[in-house]
Amino acid sequence: MDAHDIRDAYLRFFTDRGHRVIPRAPLVPRDDPTTLFNGSGMQQLVPYLLGRAHPLGSRLTDSQPCLRAQDIAEVGDNRHTTFFEMLGNWSLGDYFKSEQIPWFWEFLTGVVGLDPARIYVSCFAGDPEHAIPRDTESAGIWAELFDAAGIDSDAVDLDTDERAAAVGTGGARIAFYGPDNWWCRMGSADAMPVGEPGGPDSEVFYLYPQVEHDPAYGEHCHHNCDCGRFIELGNSVFMQYSRTESGFAELPRRNVDYGGGLERIAAAAVDSPDVFRISLLWPIVEKLEQLSGARYDTHTKALRVVADHLRGATFLAIEGVRPGNKEQGYVMRRLVRRAIRYAQGLGLEESFLAEIVPTVAGVYQDRYPEVAAHRDEAIEVLAKEERSFRRTVRRGIALLDSLGTHVDGHDLFTLHDTYGFPVELSLEEAHQRGTDVSAEWRVEFDADMAAQRERSRAGR
Ligand code: ALA
Repeated sequence: MDAHDIRDAYLRFFTDRGHRVIPRAPLVPRDDPTTLFNGSGMQQLVPYLLGRAHPLGSRLTDSQPCLRAQDIAEVGDNRHTTFFEMLGNWSLGDYFKSEQIPWFWEFLTGVVGLDPARIYVSCFAGDPEHAIPRDTESAGIWAELFDAAGIDSDAVDLDTDERAAAVGTGGARIAFYGPDNWWCRMGSADAMPVGEPGGPDSEVFYLYPQVEHDPAYGEHCHHNCDCGRFIELGNSVFMQYSRTESGFAELPRRNVDYGGGLERIAAAAVDSPDVFRISLLWPIVEKLEQLSGARYDTHTKALRVVADHLRGATFLAIEGVRPGNKEQGYVMRRLVRRAIRYAQGLGLEESFLAEIVPTVAGVYQDRYPEVAAHRDEAIEVLAKEERSFRRTVRRGIALLDSLGTHVDGHDLFTLHDTYGFPVELSLEEAHQRGTDVSAEWRVEFDADMAAQRERSRAGR
């Protein structure tokens, strides 16, 4: 099954179980000023998770394109991408753990055909401070599924990643973690604003025995280890709480919010720990190899970054976002510019975006009519940004080189203000050439930024 087949099979699996397919939301949320991008399938469902009745009922499913700008720096390993599709299913006060967990298992093992013996899971260890109990119910359901498949269902209490890396799992199938198994949009229970929904989650990981544990990530490998041996495929959030002033209150209904990474599941289906090897990304990598002459096995990180960033930027262009200096436009500009810098490192000095966008469009246009409809516009937008950036890079790099071995926040501000160099890019460039960056750069940069804002206010 390739990724398109998996998406189809997933939606069929859940419609066969009484779910209605909801239209995917745009990457840029329309009525939600809290985030720049749709970062998870549940975003458009927040009011319904909090209790409002959804017009399509209490069982919903979709495949939601997401963009996580906060993951830009992670891209380059075997599994992180900024843009991805999240397979979702929701119960709005309908079914709960005893249906959700067996369905998740059945979809992965029965439909996608993953090896049950390589599936590992985690459950919430509990939060005594907020009186949220340990999720023994989910663990019990998983244990029954593993037992029925003739697989040991030992459980281990790990609590934190630090502890897990220090003590190891002893090969246990089910691991209890604390903060890692609490899900909310903000990432942690403490960061949730009053009224925000969240809950314990249960995560599924696929073990790639062909990947050796890397001790740089801790002595022992464990489910949540970042070495790339275990890859999370998805998680079921049992959304049953909302934040109050003093702690948590039970929501009026107990919901399920499931999110699975289409790319990661598609990679598992072909037994590849590398998500870039799947049908949604590999054609982009191949096109880049062909244009640059660089080979994936020797230029892995750069090719991953360029492929990922240009896929994301293409989707943004298709949705009407334009490169700019703030909000979504800034993230888009950062993606394009970072991709071009990495491509230059691969020897791609000529304009190439106009050749990559059609490859991205070719991958998606059968399933995403808007990609076909706005393909030419996206080519134009990205090619224009490329032209202007190549000009600024030539000037910016010359300036950076002329500054010698030390730069401060004022230099970074000049690069940003006069040359349109995003500060992150300057920092990366400085890092790459071993240039020392002032420890105070942020303060210096912010001071220049504030002074400039003051000037422009006075000038109005
Ligand atoms: N909302 C959950 C996530 O994004 C499913 O991981």
